[in-house]
Amino acid sequence: MSAATTAISSAEAYVKAPLLYKGKVRELYDLGEHYLIAVTDRISAFDWVLSPAVPDKGNVLNSLSKFWFERTASIQPNHMVHGDVDKLGDLITDREVMKDRFMVTRKAERIDIECVVRGYITGGGWRQYQQTGEVNGHKLPAGMRKNERFPQPIFTPAAKNDVGHDEDISIERMKELVGAELTEQLQEKSIRLYEFAHAICAERGIILADTKFEFGLIDGEIILIDEIFTPDSSRFWAQEKYELDIEIDGMDKEPVRTYLAGTGWDKNSEPDPLPLHVVEETSKRYRDIYNRLVQG
Ligand SMILES: Nc1ncnc2c1ncn2[C@@H]1O[C@H](COP(=O)(O)OP(=O)(O)OP(=O)(O)O)[C@@H](O)[C@H]1O
Ligand SMILES: [Mg+2]
Repeated sequence: MSAATTAISSAEAYVKAPLLYKGKVRELYDLGEHYLIAVTDRISAFDWVLSPAVPDKGNVLNSLSKFWFERTASIQPNHMVHGDVDKLGDLITDREVMKDRFMVTRKAERIDIECVVRGYITGGGWRQYQQTGEVNGHKLPAGMRKNERFPQPIFTPAAKNDVGHDEDISIERMKELVGAELTEQLQEKSIRLYEFAHAICAERGIILADTKFEFGLIDGEIILIDEIFTPDSSRFWAQEKYELDIEIDGMDKEPVRTYLAGTGWDKNSEPDPLPLHVVEETSKRYRDIYNRLVQG
């Protein structure tokens, strides 16, 4: 993928269908039986949408989701119907802007759980472990080191809250919320998908450290929705940067997080705009992960 010059912070000017929902990154348009999901270049951190948007981010997220939805369809059905711009006709006003940043999907009844799988102990999991020796109720061996691989990947769900942050929950709590049977099915599917992608990433010199999925129900069937194995939903590490005990420089919005951490921003008020060099470096990281994963 070569570099774009402008960022698209909203697709509203380009789609001629009713806008049903505007998330932090994606916009859902109503096509009757289906959604058109447009992926903008908006970037969020700590639940705030930052400015300005990051060129190519939406194209990368959408193209990676397409790549993985196609590859995982035989092991887990998903919501994608197609991502073919030629089938949109007059629904869009700019073919070039839209061609890589949308997907037509089935409409699902969302299950309000983020299905997180962790293969390595890092980030929030590492913080929990240091305080309690556990991660979302999984008791873990003593003496683990930061970034160490778990003997088996673990399932650490979070409840999606309407307001405020998603909340880490135990598997027992998830059973209370959505039932034991659905919990077990989602856990099994999530771990299987993680292992499948972990192996493909490894062939390309990338470690898939952790990831999250969203599922929904369509006519009682469990369907994978939203996005899959993108840098917004996953932590990717370049194999050559992998080391224990350090803070690994991830292949995603790390430049943004590092910048924000340096500004002393309190996370409770509108953050200052990002400087151009941070936006450019972030855009480059998104393109790099795409090129490395999809183009091998
Ligand atoms: N096929 C689908 N059916 C129903 N809902 C979907 C489908 N695919 C994605 N979604 C939902 O569409 C929204 C996508 O927008 P986005 O990810 O930008 O939202 P967000 O700001 O992250 O909010 P959320 O916390 O709800 O994820 C999400 O709420 C996601 O759960
Ligand atoms: Mg989301």
